[in-house]
Amino acid sequence: MNEVTTIDRTQREYSDAVKKALARKPQLYINGEWVDSSGDQTIDVEDPSTGKVISSFVEATDKDIDRAVAAARAAFDDRRWRGMPPVAREKIMHKIADLIEANADELAELEAIDVGKPKGMAAVVDVPGAAAHFRYMAGWAGKAGGETQSPYSMPDGMMFAYTLKEPVGVCAQIVPWNFPLLMGCLKIAPVLASGCTTILKPAEQTSLTALRLADLIHEAGVPAGVVNIVTGYGHTGGDRLVKHPDVDKVAFTGSTEIGKLINRNATDTLKHVTLELGGKSPVVVMPDVDVAETAPGVSQAIFFNSGQVCVAGSRLYAHKSVFDKVVEGMAETKDFWAPRASLDPEGHMGPLVSAEQHERVLGYIDAGKRDGASVLMGGDVPSSDGGYYVNPTILTDVNPQMSVVREEIFGPVVVAQRFEDLDEVVKDANDTQYGLAAGVWTKDVAAAHKIAARLQAGTVWVNCHAMIDPALPFGGYKESGVGHEQGRLGLEAYFETKSVIMKL
Ligand code: NAI
Ligand code: MG
Repeated sequence: MNEVTTIDRTQREYSDAVKKALARKPQLYINGEWVDSSGDQTIDVEDPSTGKVISSFVEATDKDIDRAVAAARAAFDDRRWRGMPPVAREKIMHKIADLIEANADELAELEAIDVGKPKGMAAVVDVPGAAAHFRYMAGWAGKAGGETQSPYSMPDGMMFAYTLKEPVGVCAQIVPWNFPLLMGCLKIAPVLASGCTTILKPAEQTSLTALRLADLIHEAGVPAGVVNIVTGYGHTGGDRLVKHPDVDKVAFTGSTEIGKLINRNATDTLKHVTLELGGKSPVVVMPDVDVAETAPGVSQAIFFNSGQVCVAGSRLYAHKSVFDKVVEGMAETKDFWAPRASLDPEGHMGPLVSAEQHERVLGYIDAGKRDGASVLMGGDVPSSDGGYYVNPTILTDVNPQMSVVREEIFGPVVVAQRFEDLDEVVKDANDTQYGLAAGVWTKDVAAAHKIAARLQAGTVWVNCHAMIDPALPFGGYKESGVGHEQGRLGLEAYFETKSVIMKL
């Protein structure tokens, strides 16, 4: 029925550019320079397609973190970046995007071998997306500003009042491993547009592209200290950043568990905090759909990036009249999503990012089976010579109490359920601690709008999934987040607003 066992999962040879990037000396990018750590600890880089160690990078010490924060503080306080004409900042931001595009092939390959995602996916999603965030936010560098406002309770002409938008200050930005370059750029772009400075810490599983990004940011002419890139673990370096008294804002993307911890840790100095956290996003399939279009769409909603996506459509609710056809149609995509090594040009899905994640996802699948779920597809690992592969998996006969239905699995595992009427499915879809995203598939425009209004989610897609765009605000309801990124709201999160009131 499928070719899974016959796929050769041997990793292809890396390109020369990637070999060079892997051979670089482990260093940190602080104050516009590559510097050695004050310590001697490093963290290994693994290729998840093979499980082999291919490089290493610095595990930053407290001293390293403090040095990076001091550099960002000095760069903010002396106004070397926010003081520049916006047109000059905008130009530099476009230059970063140009350099990302000029190095697209290397960046896509580095991302592929670091995360385990197919290089072809990184080339069409991660790398162009990374450049687009800089281009979009570059436009705001010269367009954001305050407004004049006449006071309400005072006679006309007595006062002159206006607001100023001022950069919030030194930012600590912590990103996860599923879209490392894209998330890094999404974080840094509004920093540069607003006039802030930052210390970015990529995830300990995936730091390669962030380090290459530092080279490009340097080459583009961002002044020293404005962007600092430090590598290391979350509970050490990340924690120190979050608690650092000289940091004004924390922007985090990752698990809800760590998001809550960061929110608490940032409280002592009342830092501004934005959090983009987990999800368990429902996908509602209405009875009127064209199954031939919908089944591949809802499969992509879960299997893209091996399901390691905060907005993954991990809970499918299909109307009982189409349920069987929809899940059968999803099962037909099995070969398309069969996991392959990340540099295999035939691949649409790679391995999971790490042994830890592999174990976690398989643990959920086992728990689902123990709880009585049926495995309609996958549920196992394919043959391979190392690497963290999991076959795309569809679970049916599930109920709302099961951990596979309630918790974020962050793997290629969808739980499929039937529904009868709209009220019921809206209630079930909203029965979760999360509220990041949701999907609706239907040709009935009125039904689409009604459901979109009733789903508790920061983003609702209709007849598509995971379409994320720099111009559209992205944020979570409930325990999926605090604040927004992207769009005007995403920029605003990097400003303080000052009211100036003058008696004439
Ligand atoms: P995590 O939330 O622990 O890690 C994300 C980032 O936070 C990494 O850069 C890490 O170094 C940092 N970090 C960890 N602890 C920290 C602390 N105490 N202070 C400051 N920074 C800290 O996520 P992890 O452990 O990699 O994955 C666990 C689960 O989290 C996944 O299975 C998945 O369910 C979820 N997750 C969700 C993501 C999303 O985009 N919503 C992204 C990554 C993971
Ligand atoms: Mg963790």
